[in-house]
Amino acid sequence: MEQTFLMIKPDGVQRGLIGEIVSRLEKKGLKLSAAKFMVIDRALAERHYAEHEGKPFYPPLIDFITSGPVFAMVWSGDQVIELTRALIGKTDALAAAPGTIRSDFAVHTNFNLIHGSDSLENAQREISLFFRPEELVEYEHTM
Ligand code: CMP
Repeated sequence: MEQTFLMIKPDGVQRGLIGEIVSRLEKKGLKLSAAKFMVIDRALAERHYAEHEGKPFYPPLIDFITSGPVFAMVWSGDQVIELTRALIGKTDALAAAPGTIRSDFAVHTNFNLIHGSDSLENAQREISLFFRPEELVEYEHTM
């Protein structure tokens, strides 16, 4: 079964949107496999966002993502990467389709509430940065 890494960013935590976002994912029928409430240190943030190093938004992105707690998660299901990206919406809140998390709750690309893996390769890489294999919980999920 496919897995993806999702992370509610410091703005989502501060705005009290953990429950709303997790609820949308649950109601969609996706399976939660792991979750962790944590503050990311700069070393982990830099590894997670390595592909963006050198871009103008990289320094503020690292500052922001390390500025407060995040809610890191692994979700599982068929085509879960595409499905969660559809639920989250485009990076730019203005371009995100109505009904998506970013369209409904975000106004700025820098504060777009949640990160979601964009490929199988990145999902595996990001999951292994944040979770040890034994932290992924296996259980029956019939919905
Ligand atoms: P995220 O999916 O976490 O991946 C990188 C983040 O950088 C992105 O969400 C945005 O919050 C932020 N960002 C800021 N400006 C840009 C940009 N021009 N393109 C992509 N991401 C950006």
